[in-house]
Amino acid sequence: MYYEERSSLNVICNDNNAVVIDLRSDTLTKPTKRMREAMFNAEVGDDVYGEDSTVKKLEEKAAEMVGMEDAIFVCSGTMGNLIAIMNHCDVRGSEAYCGDSAHCLLHEQCGASQIAGVNLRPLRNNSDGTFDLCELESLLRKDRHHEPISKLVLVENTIDGKIVPQSWIIELVTFCKKHNLKLHMDGARLWNASVGSGKSAKQIVSGFDSVTFCLSKGLGAPIGSLLCGSKEFVAKARRVRKVLGGGMRQVGILGAAGLVALEDTIPILKDDHRRALHFASSINDIQSTIFTVDLKTVQTNMVFVRVDPDLVSATNFANRLRNVCDDNDDDKIIVKCLALNESFVRFVFFHEITDNQLMLAIRKVKYVIAKLDSRISLP
Ligand SMILES: Cc1ncc(COP(=O)(O)O)c(C=O)c1O
Repeated sequence: MYYEERSSLNVICNDNNAVVIDLRSDTLTKPTKRMREAMFNAEVGDDVYGEDSTVKKLEEKAAEMVGMEDAIFVCSGTMGNLIAIMNHCDVRGSEAYCGDSAHCLLHEQCGASQIAGVNLRPLRNNSDGTFDLCELESLLRKDRHHEPISKLVLVENTIDGKIVPQSWIIELVTFCKKHNLKLHMDGARLWNASVGSGKSAKQIVSGFDSVTFCLSKGLGAPIGSLLCGSKEFVAKARRVRKVLGGGMRQVGILGAAGLVALEDTIPILKDDHRRALHFASSINDIQSTIFTVDLKTVQTNMVFVRVDPDLVSATNFANRLRNVCDDNDDDKIIVKCLALNESFVRFVFFHEITDNQLMLAIRKVKYVIAKLDSRISLP
């Protein structure tokens, strides 16, 4: 199995001739052969003139799949979220609300304030990705003379690989209607949420004013996201995209890969989820008290391993996984992952990670855990 993997096209071998399995992020996916062929053959035109038939087809398909009137192709999830914020917060001095672990708050340079002039106000995220609606209600602005104007709520789904409970989403939709707030979903991994929950994307975003989803993460396309909403919302989005420098010309080249991604990859996301759960359970099977996974949090393609920072730092664990120190076949496997802080390491599964690679990654992780936790002795 080990040698078979070495010869596989997807597996990189480093100087030590060790197998490299890269689980840092699902953004590492590379376009498949079918995507590359579709890109090669794509009919294109100038999309700024509205003449690219391939990207139009993609936008129509995306809108239909999420049950919204229209959609626009944008170059990234960050751009999709920013355009949504700029569209919904259409008066100066607007305020938007999101969870305190939201990507748009932490990892998008706060474009909301930097570019849109919008105050992004965080609410404490519960472990399931929700936030407290009573707290949100207490934050809403009433004094239009002195305060910003409450305009928008942003929800990320999936968030850290977890599917936001639909019962809460339904409550939030009602809440936003009552308070005249717009509602946007950062659905960078909307399809993971859909496959993982068994609910259609239409159901998940029902009642939302807009949603962004990414083609370039687990779906495997090289570039691009779709921002979906009403016809009026998307018409405004086209104007905003242009000022952000996001008007692209023969973009059907990218759209073609996106169409293949929607067709080919959504049906196999369930395998990424299965592999993530298998990986997580294998770590817990070792019964280390230092390295553990809360299996309840493994709902889609991400695994967060908790490391007891008093005994081993997460950074040491991640570094050891990417090193070969011993003359042992189990050590000659390099696993790349992300240490998020001193307590958590993230592993992400995507379609290029095969079952064989999963088994190799488990071998390495078990080997390293046994090295770092003196109470573990593996057979
Ligand atoms: C939840 C979430 N939203 C938005 C984004 C931004 O997407 P992009 O990298 O395409 O700008 C990411 C990227 O990882 C993400 O994880």
